[in-house]
Amino acid sequence: MKRSATFSKEYVRASWSLPEPTLAYFPNARFAHSDRDQGAGTVGLTVTPAAAASDGTGGGVAVADDSCLGRDAFGQSDFGHVPVLRSRCVELLTPALTRHHPDGTKAVLLDATIGAGGHAERFLDELPGLRLIGLDRDPSALDIARTRLARFADRVTLIHTRYDAIAVALAELGYAPVESVDAVLFDLGVSSMQLDRVERGFAYAHDAPLDMRMDPASPVTAADIVNTYDEAALVDILRRYGEERFARRIAAHIVRQRAETPFTSTAQLVDLLYRAIPAPARRTGGHPAKRTFQALRIAVNDELGSLRSALPAALDALVVGGRIVVLAYQSLEDRIVKRMFADAVASGTPAGLPVELPGHGPRFRSLTHGAERADDAEMEHNRRSAAVRLRALQRVEHKGDPHNHATGKGHS
Ligand SMILES: C[S@@+](CC[C@H](N)C(=O)[O-])C[C@H]1O[C@@H](n2cnc3c(N)ncnc32)[C@H](O)[C@@H]1O
Repeated sequence: MKRSATFSKEYVRASWSLPEPTLAYFPNARFAHSDRDQGAGTVGLTVTPAAAASDGTGGGVAVADDSCLGRDAFGQSDFGHVPVLRSRCVELLTPALTRHHPDGTKAVLLDATIGAGGHAERFLDELPGLRLIGLDRDPSALDIARTRLARFADRVTLIHTRYDAIAVALAELGYAPVESVDAVLFDLGVSSMQLDRVERGFAYAHDAPLDMRMDPASPVTAADIVNTYDEAALVDILRRYGEERFARRIAAHIVRQRAETPFTSTAQLVDLLYRAIPAPARRTGGHPAKRTFQALRIAVNDELGSLRSALPAALDALVVGGRIVVLAYQSLEDRIVKRMFADAVASGTPAGLPVELPGHGPRFRSLTHGAERADDAEMEHNRRSAAVRLRALQRVEHKGDPHNHATGKGHS
């Protein structure tokens, strides 16, 4: 059952170090003092309005100086990450968020990947009664979202967690794991800020520690995998998560090289990939390190496992009439979304029966025909959007609802 949570507080489940300087994101950042610094890592911290005092000295919450940031069509700063298909997400989810009241009062949106808060900000702006729960496994992203969404602090709760812990996060806030939220948004993958933070080791274009953890507190880095997994496991990761056809050669090169010098940096790995991948193949199919870096990032962060667990929990969390939108940027993730969504809209009535058996009708209907893509104008403005696949569903029935008397099958 829904209970009204303390939305003026943020709930932080895992501890992390004091906020990192934000200068790497925003070279012209200024600072506002915040009691968040003293309490980082504890539960129940107050979200400090971004408009708080700023004296330009070190410490405190980094507040982006808009002059160095991009702006969207509404003149708002993009905080280092341009949200993809934002208007379409709003269009798809708003009907579920305005069922009780046109301003979103009584509705809850779960943003499972809050990132820089770009999607969230638009929903909160347009629906002044809406409550929003934002999850992210990256504490730096939560810092940015907290700053950006400070003016909505009384309606926003940010939680540091993986999205496969949706049920736990909802329970902590007093929401039931089933049928308690009106809409869910997943904007998968890494954010531009994560890629731009050179020292996090996500980008093959820069030399940095071979890390790639979205959550710096998680136990395994890319270097750990490269230096300790056996050759067969490396081949498997490169094939499965990178669809890398030279997986065997690359793994053999890695095992040979690490016996002499363990890998510590992205540059070492990029250098090895140039040697391991045959020259003709290096000239086609993008940067030779692209697939290996993607594979390692997916393995380090268990991205596919996390998504596989999170989607069923997210679907269960939706009320009847509730909606979900997922934005995926690579085929492995999109395949998982596509399959799970296909199962969700499928009828459980045995084939051949002329009518739906009570309790066996589809729980969801599809809101999109296949996957939607960004249009040319958006792709031109935001290169990240070129890869996006958007899929959306609406919940139409309770789970195993014996009162489901739909007359025809597959009314999706
Ligand atoms: C593409 S960004 C989201 C950007 C956001 N929609 C915006 O407009 O600013 C994806 C975010 O999801 C987070 N993320 C990725 N995998 C996650 C997981 N398993 N659990 C929680 N957060 C995750 C990343 O840390 C990143 O901040």
